[in-house]
Amino acid sequence: MLSKQFLLDVKERYEPQGYTIRPLKDTKHVNILQLEKDGNLYVAKSIWSEVGNPEDAKRADKAFRRETSVLKQLPSWWGLTLVDSFKTELNRVIVTPYIEHISWSSYKGKNAKELAAQLKKQLQWLETHKICHNDVELKNILLSKDQKKVFFIDFEKSKRSSTCSDRKNLLEILQESSTTKSLAKYFGTKTQTRKRSTK
Ligand SMILES: Nc1ncnc2c1ncn2[C@@H]1O[C@H](COP(=O)(O)OP(=O)(O)OP(=O)(O)O)[C@@H](O)[C@H]1O
Ligand SMILES: [Mg+2]
Repeated sequence: MLSKQFLLDVKERYEPQGYTIRPLKDTKHVNILQLEKDGNLYVAKSIWSEVGNPEDAKRADKAFRRETSVLKQLPSWWGLTLVDSFKTELNRVIVTPYIEHISWSSYKGKNAKELAAQLKKQLQWLETHKICHNDVELKNILLSKDQKKVFFIDFEKSKRSSTCSDRKNLLEILQESSTTKSLAKYFGTKTQTRKRSTK
């Protein structure tokens, strides 16, 4: 069930600014809300901690710091930015633009080469910035509704590290499901470089 306090915290901050707040359709996540103003849509996600549990508050604070830190660094081509972040007693809230997406279970292999290239580019960017996503799963990869764009979300578990198994994990995950096998085929191959003439 959606946390009452989360809803109240978001309402308190956003309603005075003219935003409409509602649960996000098509997700069972109780820590996610949708905000709307002037036709612009956003997602507010809460990382909450248990009442009166300082250890859990520390865990949530860490996750909040990790996620906001990565979101602030992401390049514009990623398609995901940090719009706002704030803390209340129990909630740590992260606001990003809403991205209309479809479930991987309805993916039929469209644009596989392009999508695999986007995932590779994103992992390459993370590696260059010594960020390990650390929670590579299909549920943490959004596939846009037109199936032309794909990107990693959810950086709560990310860590600063130059050694990382994100690539290996992603390849295994893509290979596992019949719907994403086509992506795995392109993901696993090196970028084609044209052979030079030996003449
Ligand atoms: N920017 C966004 N636009 C649209 N939907 C989003 C966005 N961010 C998150 N969602 C939806 O909310 C879900 C949960 O997001 P996220 O993974 O960041 O939260 P989480 O609490 O870590 O969830 P989980 O524990 O399942 O990984 C996503 O799978 C997606 O359905
Ligand atoms: Mg997630």
